[in-house]
Amino acid sequence: MRNYYIAGNWKMHKTRGEAAALAQALVAQLKNGKHKYLVAPSFTALETVGPLLKGSNILLGAQNMAAAEQGAHTGEVSVLQLKDLGVQAVILGHSERRHTYQEDDGLINKKVKLALQHGLEVILCVGELLSEREAGNAEGVCETQTVQGLAGVAVADLPRVTIAYEPVWAIGTGKTATPEDADAIHASIRQVVARLYGTDAAQQILIQYGGSVKPDNAAQLMAKEHIDGALVGGAALSADTFVPIALFK
Ligand code: 13P
Repeated sequence: MRNYYIAGNWKMHKTRGEAAALAQALVAQLKNGKHKYLVAPSFTALETVGPLLKGSNILLGAQNMAAAEQGAHTGEVSVLQLKDLGVQAVILGHSERRHTYQEDDGLINKKVKLALQHGLEVILCVGELLSEREAGNAEGVCETQTVQGLAGVAVADLPRVTIAYEPVWAIGTGKTATPEDADAIHASIRQVVARLYGTDAAQQILIQYGGSVKPDNAAQLMAKEHIDGALVGGAALSADTFVPIALFK
């Protein structure tokens, strides 16, 4: 039986004060939660939020990371700096990184390997554009992103990897994949992991769904066999909407 894993991606929202208030509310309201939890504030709020999460059941995540360990990379943030702030996990390959900032699978793979090498957990995001879905290529796109994102990752490191299926057309649009459509893609991603790492590893890997997850659709999505949690954007910005998702039954 796989655990559920609910993560909040706060994207480019919240000042330090706002982030602290949300983190405090979540720590209090999720303390009896039975699932695995993470919040990923902006880099600027990590130092504020980290100490508030200490001793709680909520992991501290970052939303991105440089592909290099350190050096002359103006504007980037390194894995060493994240670890110094107590970051435990990093979201990589988010569609906004892929499509707004042109990150390709090769770059994302470097980041995945670097994060794992430094002991972090990784949430590797995959997902197709609307045009790719309409061309019947949703599974193929997710397969390529999964295979290339995980290239060179050892089976021993796979327990620290979560995959998040986020169809790009469902992010921030209010359009959710139906639970059936999402589950079909999750099943195909699990098959890809089985081909790469064997069936045990594939049975164990957690695959989150992301894209307009809200309190009123979370339970139906997560009732599906292959949907092991959620990566939440807009609804993660307030305890009123994130907590019901995180405590879903
Ligand atoms: P929304 O929940 O706002 O659609 O965002 C999903 C997402 O991109 C999480 O990483």
